[in-house]
Amino acid sequence: MKGRLLIGLLVLLPFVLGAAPAKKSKVVHPDVDTEEACDVCHREVTPELVDAWYKSRHGLMNVKCFVCHGTIGPEFMRRAPVSRCVGCHKDKVESLSNPFFKGKDCFSCHAGHELNPHKIGGGQ
Ligand code: HEC
Ligand code: HEC
Ligand code: HEC
Ligand code: HEC
Repeated sequence: MKGRLLIGLLVLLPFVLGAAPAKKSKVVHPDVDTEEACDVCHREVTPELVDAWYKSRHGLMNVKCFVCHGTIGPEFMRRAPVSRCVGCHKDKVESLSNPFFKGKDCFSCHAGHELNPHKIGGGQ
């Protein structure tokens, strides 16, 4: 009886493991040479975007890609939480707690790279 149960469990195990849900919102960066700087490689792969960033306040002030995307690895992300902004924009982050802004983050109004407040909804 005990033996059968064990076999039953062993048979089930791969299914249980296989079914472990992949973390849904987790974005994985393509496997690339991490020796190269983000903006150097991205000037080739996504030139418009790097250009938009470069000309923005963040580009001028050297607020780099990793501030909002992390480095390549487990902490890589697509859309930075406001905790990534608070060090330099404390007042703005605090004003977001106004109920009027419920459910909004900075990128609800600012394009990630241009930072233009009129290009609602992110993008370049
Ligand atoms: C050697 C080249 C290279 C380097 C270095 C590199 N990337 Fe990328 N990155 C790529 C490529 C290729 C893609 C996929 C582009 C596509 O699908 O259009 C990509 C995609 C991305 C994406 C979009 C991911 C998605 O799934 O939406 C982000 C954000 C990003 N990179 C940020 C970074 C950051 C931040 C760094 C530095 C820590 C970095 N990259 C370094 C080549 C690179
Ligand atoms: C102020 C924060 C911020 C900085 C700095 C920043 N990004 Fe982004 N990036 C964003 C946001 C926001 C998005 C859109 C994410 C979303 O809506 O899912 C994004 C999206 C991307 C994408 C995906 C583009 C697409 O259209 O799907 C790539 C690639 C990328 N960023 C690369 C970079 C690189 C390279 C740098 C540095 C040159 C950089 N980012 C700097 C905020 C930033
Ligand atoms: C290391 C400091 C630093 C961090 C972190 C940072 N920023 Fe900035 N940001 C700046 C500086 C410096 C400026 C230019 C001066 C200003 O306008 O206050 C700026 C300007 C801006 C602007 C105005 C652009 C314009 O053209 O007027 C926006 C929007 C912005 N940041 C959004 C963000 C968001 C969203 C985050 C978090 C994801 C963030 N920043 C993180 C330093 C930072
Ligand atoms: C509901 C839309 C909205 C949200 C959400 C929002 N902003 Fe803004 N932000 C704007 C607009 C519109 C302007 C332009 C105001 C102007 O030019 O006078 C602006 C201007 C700015 C500026 C530059 C001008 C200044 O007053 O210093 C910075 C920096 C900034 N925002 C950062 C942020 C950060 C960081 C977040 C998230 C914590 C954020 N914003 C969330 C709409 C928004």
